[in-house]
Amino acid sequence: MTGISSPDPLKFAFAVKSSPHAGRSGSHPLDLSPQQWQSWWATPTSATQRALYIHIPFCRKRCSFCNFFENGSNSARISRYVESLSQQLYTASKTPFVKSGTFDTVYVGGGTPTDMQASEIAIIGEAIQAFPLAKNAEITLEGRLNDFTDAKFDAALASGFNRFSFGVQSFNTQVRLAAGRFDNREVLIERLQELSKHPSASIVADLIFGLPGQTMEIWLQDLQDVIQSSVHGVDLYQLIGLQGTRLSKQAEKEKAKQTQEDGSQQKQQTLVPAVDSQTRASMYAAGARLLESSGWQRLSSCHWRRDNRERSIYNSLAKSGIEILPFGAGAGGNIHGHGMMNARDLSNWHQAQTPDSVTDTLPLRVPGMVMSPNPSAALDSQFKAGLDHGELVLSEFDTEMVDHLMPLFYAWQTNGLVKISDKIMTQTLAGRFWNVNLQTGLFAYLNQNAFESCASSMST
Ligand SMILES: C[S@@+](CC[C@H](N)C(=O)[O-])C[C@H]1O[C@@H](n2cnc3c(N)ncnc32)[C@H](O)[C@@H]1O
Ligand code: SF4
Repeated sequence: MTGISSPDPLKFAFAVKSSPHAGRSGSHPLDLSPQQWQSWWATPTSATQRALYIHIPFCRKRCSFCNFFENGSNSARISRYVESLSQQLYTASKTPFVKSGTFDTVYVGGGTPTDMQASEIAIIGEAIQAFPLAKNAEITLEGRLNDFTDAKFDAALASGFNRFSFGVQSFNTQVRLAAGRFDNREVLIERLQELSKHPSASIVADLIFGLPGQTMEIWLQDLQDVIQSSVHGVDLYQLIGLQGTRLSKQAEKEKAKQTQEDGSQQKQQTLVPAVDSQTRASMYAAGARLLESSGWQRLSSCHWRRDNRERSIYNSLAKSGIEILPFGAGAGGNIHGHGMMNARDLSNWHQAQTPDSVTDTLPLRVPGMVMSPNPSAALDSQFKAGLDHGELVLSEFDTEMVDHLMPLFYAWQTNGLVKISDKIMTQTLAGRFWNVNLQTGLFAYLNQNAFESCASSMST
């Protein structure tokens, strides 16, 4: 949890990124009765900030590194899904719960939402407009550039979308081919340049570092290319070895082969990553330095913008634990403080659409999981959002809690991950690269060293 002492903490403070996200469990699955579900939609929200997350679980191709693939894009399947989804959105939009507070941000993610037809993008965009949106709310459409035609862009803009997040991953044509991506470098740069000419919409590109075949030289060119593409925002994601991907299956096969050849000593090894952790650390540092020296502003550990139109409101608020209403098979969110995850299976999701379960006043209860409220949710989100952003403002936390955590924070400082001043703990470049490990470490520390404030111990 503290990292290890090293002259080069960027590369060696931890062996590997602990997981895609950090968290600690403080809640359990709930069996929500139909009456409770009904009462949720009749009860006004107590949240001050809210978002909508709408999931479009279709892709035309399974990329080698990704485990978000759920269903093949098929026009009849997508159109049936869009029809049901829009009905659910309109029904929800009329409930007292939805009407009781405005929505700051909406994210239509996937999968590949840009695989919808232009008319379907418009149907979803218009259904979103039925919600009480904050003035200048951020409304994002996620997807990729292949087959994102002018007709789709125009339909999205006309129906209210104002932010477009495209997975590019790498511009290098060979790396793309190996990862199962469409299009070559030149096509991508040209299309991003065209889209970025829009006077107000924010165009964002996701890049991954550490893909197979992506050398440091290729990565530096990827960074130059993204700058040249004129996009307004960029995410630099470290490749995570996600279970079930083509890459992790390959790595498992290689590991099994090695075990057979070399005997039992290899059995303890973790999966062989495409690019080792130290090289990935250098890639992150190169990306952060190049963007910042080119005038880009860092909004979080992995997101930068060059233009104020890019706000990244959904990503930053989602980490702060705000209320997120989830719609669609596979969507996750949090309603009245209860975590929710809709099941991924499409046919089960459609089952909830059968006429006898439809009421026109209440959103359907689609299959999925509902969790009890997490008593430490607000505090955990404050830690997560701060460490993701790159600093913890210590004066915003209970002083006893800060004192309790100080041994961990000093160990991080000794190991080159943070700098502590009177009121602020700022992460170094190494601390930002390892920020998910810091979050995981902080929750592990709190689990092992339970915090009890004087106020609560005096009252018991
Ligand atoms: C849900 S995916 C949707 C992207 C879009 N469908 C596309 O094809 O580009 C969102 C982003 O997650 C990131 N991602 C997916 N798998 C990843 C992995 N194994 N490691 C790091 N980032 C990953 C990619 O950068 C991707 O653009
Ligand atoms: S990167 Fe996008 S298109 Fe590829 S499998 Fe993941 S979600 Fe689907």
